[in-house]
Amino acid sequence: MTAGLTVLKFGGELLETDERRGAMATAIRRVSQASALVVVHGGGREVDADMAVHGIDKRAVDGLRITDARTLEIVVGVLAGRVNTRLVATLGSMGVRAVGLTAADGDVASVQVAAPYAAADGATVDLGFVGQPFGDGSQLIETLCAGGFVPVVASIGANNDGQLLNVNADTLAGHLAASLGADRLLIAGGTAGVLDPDGATIPVVDGALMDQLIGDGRASAGMVAKLTACRAAARSGVARVDIVTGKQTADLDASPGTRIEIPSMDGSESTES
Ligand SMILES: Nc1ncnc2c1ncn2[C@@H]1O[C@H](COP(=O)(O)OP(=O)(O)OP(=O)(O)O)[C@@H](O)[C@H]1O
Ligand SMILES: [Mg+2]
Repeated sequence: MTAGLTVLKFGGELLETDERRGAMATAIRRVSQASALVVVHGGGREVDADMAVHGIDKRAVDGLRITDARTLEIVVGVLAGRVNTRLVATLGSMGVRAVGLTAADGDVASVQVAAPYAAADGATVDLGFVGQPFGDGSQLIETLCAGGFVPVVASIGANNDGQLLNVNADTLAGHLAASLGADRLLIAGGTAGVLDPDGATIPVVDGALMDQLIGDGRASAGMVAKLTACRAAARSGVARVDIVTGKQTADLDASPGTRIEIPSMDGSESTES
């Protein structure tokens, strides 16, 4: 499969209220009518809120959550539990045949413990129970898409030992787009794409600009993970890669944002529109 496949990732803040979730479900339905679709979602802010309730401090580096055992329990419960099932239910009520999954289901993605992370500031950080996805496409996803279902993937995985792992949702979306041979990766978040320090949207980011933005700190926190995921997808041949706001309209094609233009390893540009 894969001709005409879109991987669409939503940041958790777009799914927090009934109103926002309804708008995003409308957006998902719209995309699903035009192409096969895999949805990946985060839920960072809801995890933060639950951690605060339990008195656990948040630690993160470049948008990657440093995940100890207690944090993992909360991440799994929030993402694979509340956030995923609520979205699936909303989609179902709108006639979208959504199926909630994690990366651990039917080997949607192979995941291993992430290597110590080389941060933008030069530090090397052990991320704990954080997973790095790897491997080839997923037969389960292909089967679901071929049957007209929309897989909705929470960014949790498990390694070969059965250890649950927290995967950054942008990282997972980028990996799935690459491994499924998607022709589009669309990341919807709370900002109108990549912003410059004045708050204006940077319309196009190429490889050199990406390095500058991360290197000089104009892109930080969750945006570093997003850009890194976009680069991986573009390099592996995903032709269209965009970071857009999910807050302005349920028509994501009309949402302001940033186009990522990085050549694939086989030399073609990710500039098709
Ligand atoms: N140059 C930049 N442009 C836009 N946002 C930036 C930039 N630099 C840092 N950020 C931060 O990155 C955040 C987006 O990443 P974050 O991980 O918080 O959200 P998300 O990935 O959409 O949600 P989730 O983690 O739930 O999937 C923005 O809200 C902003 O605070
Ligand atoms: Mg994030």
